[in-house]
Amino acid sequence: MIEKDSVIDPEKFRTLIEINARLNSSYTDFRALLKTIVESAARLVGAEASSLALFDQGSSTLRFEIALGPRGPELEGKSIPVNSGIAGWVYQNSRSIIVNDAAHDARFSPTVSKEISYSTNSILAVPLKVRDATVGVIELINKASRGLFMHDDLEWAELFAVQAGIAFDNAQQFQRTEKELSYLQHKVQEEQGWHTLIFSSKAMQDRLELVKRVAPSDASVLILGESGVGKELVAEQIHLNSRRSGKPFVRVNCAALPENLLESELFGHVKGAFTDAISNRAGRFEAADGGTIFLDEIAELPLKLQSKLLRVIQQKTFERVGSNQTIKADVRIVAATNRDIEKLVQTQEFRSDLYYRLNVFPIQIPPLRERIEDIPTLADHFLTKYARETNRGLMRFSDTAMQAMLNYGWPGNIRELENAIERAVLISKSAFITSDDLMIGSPQSTKNERLSGKDLKEAIVLFKRSYILNALEQNRWNQTETARHLKIQRTYLSRLIKELNIIQRKE
Ligand SMILES: Nc1ncnc2c1ncn2[C@@H]1O[C@H](COP(=O)(O)OP(=O)(O)OP(=O)(O)O)[C@@H](O)[C@H]1O
Ligand SMILES: [Mg+2]
Repeated sequence: MIEKDSVIDPEKFRTLIEINARLNSSYTDFRALLKTIVESAARLVGAEASSLALFDQGSSTLRFEIALGPRGPELEGKSIPVNSGIAGWVYQNSRSIIVNDAAHDARFSPTVSKEISYSTNSILAVPLKVRDATVGVIELINKASRGLFMHDDLEWAELFAVQAGIAFDNAQQFQRTEKELSYLQHKVQEEQGWHTLIFSSKAMQDRLELVKRVAPSDASVLILGESGVGKELVAEQIHLNSRRSGKPFVRVNCAALPENLLESELFGHVKGAFTDAISNRAGRFEAADGGTIFLDEIAELPLKLQSKLLRVIQQKTFERVGSNQTIKADVRIVAATNRDIEKLVQTQEFRSDLYYRLNVFPIQIPPLRERIEDIPTLADHFLTKYARETNRGLMRFSDTAMQAMLNYGWPGNIRELENAIERAVLISKSAFITSDDLMIGSPQSTKNERLSGKDLKEAIVLFKRSYILNALEQNRWNQTETARHLKIQRTYLSRLIKELNIIQRKE
């Protein structure tokens, strides 16, 4: 500590107070706070370069979170073993240190400096502590004007580190509380069966504005977009933003059932209408009365049911299967498809009059690759969710992992992103998700690596297997859908699955 009778440099003291105020105002953005810590420490003692390394429990390393100065960018993101170098010494001993002749100090590990070709003469390093536990190391490198760090510098740096530790703690608590709150809000919603719609792109913001505009009316809405883009989540938003939100939201997948079962599922049946109709049963339209029915995969609706649906839209009436008693239904229709429905209209697989009725208000959801601004937001959301479900505490993506996600094309859209992150959380050994954990980086090269050394026949089998597996995953193991995407017969697909020994991984 600064001695009682020594004269306190008033300039430095002012700087410290000013820094303190800055530290305490940046707790909402964790990374910004870390940067402020490093900048401020360097300013206080007059260092040319500075860094903050945080301990990562999973890998037992110190990771340079922030590095400023001439070679900062090269150092940032690098990790060193916790028992190496001056930072390692400071971390393990929880003590600060001045090394004014770094090149000749046994504790100095020249590898990092060499790697980033930065010549280090003098180092001042202080531990960063949160409630007595050391969490990282602040390193200040090369006193300006080729000077040496003095004991006085060390005392100021220690004083500063106490303040930084408190700010760090506050910021961490704030982030935890914020995450906890948003997690609980989402959880309440999810327990009621709703999904949390996450986005930050302008494209999705525009779609949500459309949703809010059309929601209050009773107009039918047709949601279009590739598989996994979140069509069902948008349908939920239409319902939740409508005056029907207190009434049922009934989901029906038109591809899930054969024609006769689907008809009775949608419209109900009376006792004796067909062999298994042992009693009267209301259909989903009746169940949705006053609310919204979501007809997913509407393009798969058989032609006969298309006419029945058209009548529901036009006259709001229908009959249960086997009955001629007309039932009135007050149901808002929201439909979705990932197929080119206009083309199906041209080939007369879909009734044009029904199409026009449904298409009064189309909403096209763009694929993820056309709104990459959503990737970081979505990725963080899924990471929090799965880290939480697996009791992993706070987890983060490495910069390269984030870059890999931004560069990847995501053919399976958000569903694929979510799956990749879920898997990465399971296989990651530390709190950092690396690009390897995501298993999406440069698929070309990894595939080629796997295939090299194989003969053509083996390589083709391997390729076919991974290609089909991927297609199945993207179509949620629905073989009919997968076969259609691959433009092959369903029976051929099922034979390939057996031949190639493809097994569905249990969730
Ligand atoms: N904006 C989003 N925010 C959060 N999660 C999302 C979002 N969009 C999609 N998801 C996730 O991706 C999954 C797939 O979304 P959804 O079922 O709505 O896709 P879809 O467009 O209906 O695809 P398909 O045509 O294959 O049925 C959802 O279960 C959800 O977990
Ligand atoms: Mg869907």
